[in-house]
Amino acid sequence: MKITILRYDELESTNVEAMNQAKRGADEGLCVVARRQTKGRGRHGRVWISEKDAGLYFSIVLRPLIENKFLPLITFAAAIAVYETLAAFGIKSDIKWANDVHVNDKKISGILAETGDTPKGFAVIVGIGINLKSSNFPAEIGAIATSIEQEIGANSGASFNADSIVEKLTANFSAAYEILTSEDGAEKIRRLWTERSSYAKGKSVRVALGTESICGVTDGIEENGALRVISENGETKIVHAGDVERLRRI
Ligand code: BTN
Repeated sequence: MKITILRYDELESTNVEAMNQAKRGADEGLCVVARRQTKGRGRHGRVWISEKDAGLYFSIVLRPLIENKFLPLITFAAAIAVYETLAAFGIKSDIKWANDVHVNDKKISGILAETGDTPKGFAVIVGIGINLKSSNFPAEIGAIATSIEQEIGANSGASFNADSIVEKLTANFSAAYEILTSEDGAEKIRRLWTERSSYAKGKSVRVALGTESICGVTDGIEENGALRVISENGETKIVHAGDVERLRRI
């Protein structure tokens, strides 16, 4: 996939701008980047705090020709790309189902895919946020989130440049997306994801499903990326959406 990067100083949300561009006919591979978002969106209607240059905020237009059931695997491909990009900086991460990326149990990146119809057909916008700096985190976020700067360590001498991270990340995403759209690609992406996630199997978790929640142990992922959880009473539950939280056994 050829990536074309469009940079903005400020946008409401790169996902919104990318969808508008897709509606105006943008090709697959258009990548919208902003230094700041005024209405950054997280999953489940949450806000994604997007202060200027404190994170990377970008969204890629996709026009996937894969079976509908495999669409959730697009976010798997994005999580793999984030994981690989962090690894290039010596940061060992973990993918938390379905598509958060954590370092030492703190969130460093989130992914939000949205779909829409456009005159050129169905489009998926995959939005990725990565924390670059922790200094401005509100206290409650600081406890549960980390950043590239924090993980590299102020004294390590290693430096990073936001533009080059976007370039690496989009190249890694493009490679993962090409795998997904190739023959047996869904299976390959599930395998790559599973190798990078401690949540895939044998993890004690609590899954919040709306008002209900279940506790159990993860037991692999389904063909479409849904998470299998063996609940405390031995039933297998298939989780398609919901927040997964690691249970700490003390
Ligand atoms: C989450 O973990 O809740 C998903 C967060 C996704 C944030 C990114 S930042 C770039 C893109 N634009 C948005 O408004 N959201 C995504």
